Amino acid sequence: MPVTLAIVGAGARGRTYARYALEHPDAAQVVAVADPRPAYREALADAHAVPAGRRYASWRDLAEAPRLADAVVVATPDRQHAEAVARFAALRYDLLLEKPMAPTEPDCAAVVATAEATGVLLAVCHVLRYTPYTEALLPLVRAGAVGAIVGVQHLEPVGWWHFAHSFVRGNWRRTDESSSSLLAKCCHDLDWLYHLVGQEPVRIASTGALRHFHPAQRPAGAADRCFDCGVEPDCPYSATRLYAACLADPERHEWPLSVVTPDLTPEGVAAALRDGPYGRCVYACDNDVVDHQVVTIEFAGGATASLTMSAFTPAGHRRTRIMGTRGFVEGDGERITVTDFVTGAVSTVDTNRAGPDAASGHGGGDFGLMRAFVAAVAARDASLIRSGPRESLVSHRMAFAAEASRLAGGVPVDVSIVDRVS
Ligand SMILES: NC(=O)c1ccc[n+]([C@@H]2O[C@H](COP(=O)([O-])OP(=O)(O)OC[C@H]3O[C@@H](n4cnc5c(N)ncnc54)[C@H](O)[C@@H]3O)[C@@H](O)[C@H]2O)c1
Repeated sequence: MPVTLAIVGAGARGRTYARYALEHPDAAQVVAVADPRPAYREALADAHAVPAGRRYASWRDLAEAPRLADAVVVATPDRQHAEAVARFAALRYDLLLEKPMAPTEPDCAAVVATAEATGVLLAVCHVLRYTPYTEALLPLVRAGAVGAIVGVQHLEPVGWWHFAHSFVRGNWRRTDESSSSLLAKCCHDLDWLYHLVGQEPVRIASTGALRHFHPAQRPAGAADRCFDCGVEPDCPYSATRLYAACLADPERHEWPLSVVTPDLTPEGVAAALRDGPYGRCVYACDNDVVDHQVVTIEFAGGATASLTMSAFTPAGHRRTRIMGTRGFVEGDGERITVTDFVTGAVSTVDTNRAGPDAASGHGGGDFGLMRAFVAAVAARDASLIRSGPRESLVSHRMAFAAEASRLAGGVPVDVSIVDRVS
């Protein structure tokens, strides 16, 4: 019998996880959908043949109904996560919860307490833990390929157009509506560094700023919308150029284009750019999240890590260098190159396209996560989940500590007292 799923939030992430069920009908089946936007809700429900009576306008309506699935996928906007978890856990649904768990530290702690008190399975969507790349890298490191880890240098190259799409014009542009860009984008990276180093983080410092995407950087002659702008042809962040390229590329219809409009025709996209948020000049939006941030972390065993999150890169996989006492690793999200200090040998493992889920998003992590979660629910076995509530709380606390440090001018913050400073 397939595990039955209710999808809460039929946006980009909800659709991605639901697609796992379409491709693996023996393992999972979508039996309910909740979303207030009719076009997105109906399209997803139609794709999964969800009956009319199980299509809900809000997760709240679904939570009023008796339990009708094994698990709920919570893929709503960040600020609705914690309350939805509380309601669905009370109904004994197992939960796949998008990150961030919640935008505040107390709400994250409440999510964990709820999962533990009710005994439901809860997996946080830290998809990087489930990629073929991570599945190859971690055993190498654990087997001593670098000796003891002394330091890690990690880059999250968000990408100039991705940053403009999501963090200047899009849903994660404002701290008060979603969260800091570090929590939104890099709780994954902090979680992955914690997973990699395998030690508790003790102290964190951070600096960063909204360096570029604000009115003071606006070029002379720029209009409030790219459609009307005389200097648009020379602007790296032109919405008309970006979304015309997406329209011409079927692989980018699902993301990012379907976030801009459900009408994926030239006319539909033009209308969305003329009137909607994604056609705005990047120097004339109401954004406030930082576009460049550096975080340094000290772990309990003495290892350190630095993380750079930047808008000013090509969009691509994370890149990492691991410095150890007897070896060095350089990883680009696909290839892992190891230098052995004893032999001087340099070897490379190519994890690109490895495994059954490799073609899914986040380097195979999206379906890797789904595979693990569905198996955990089917077997009622929490050990199959690599991103459970406890470890996810630690990595979210790292993000809150980093942000508290940045706001305090870069002073180091003890992770253990972050709830008292954030
Ligand atoms: N794991 C990752 O790598 C990753 C990547 C991107 C986003 N996210 C997170 O996933 C979540 C969803 O992001 P997204 O990109 O799919 O956003 P999205 O805006 O495309 O989708 C969110 C959906 O939730 C719906 N929604 C709003 N209120 C609702 C309600 N009361 N009941 C049911 N649905 C409701 C919206 O209408 C929308 O369709 C967010 O928390 C986001 O931060 C995670």
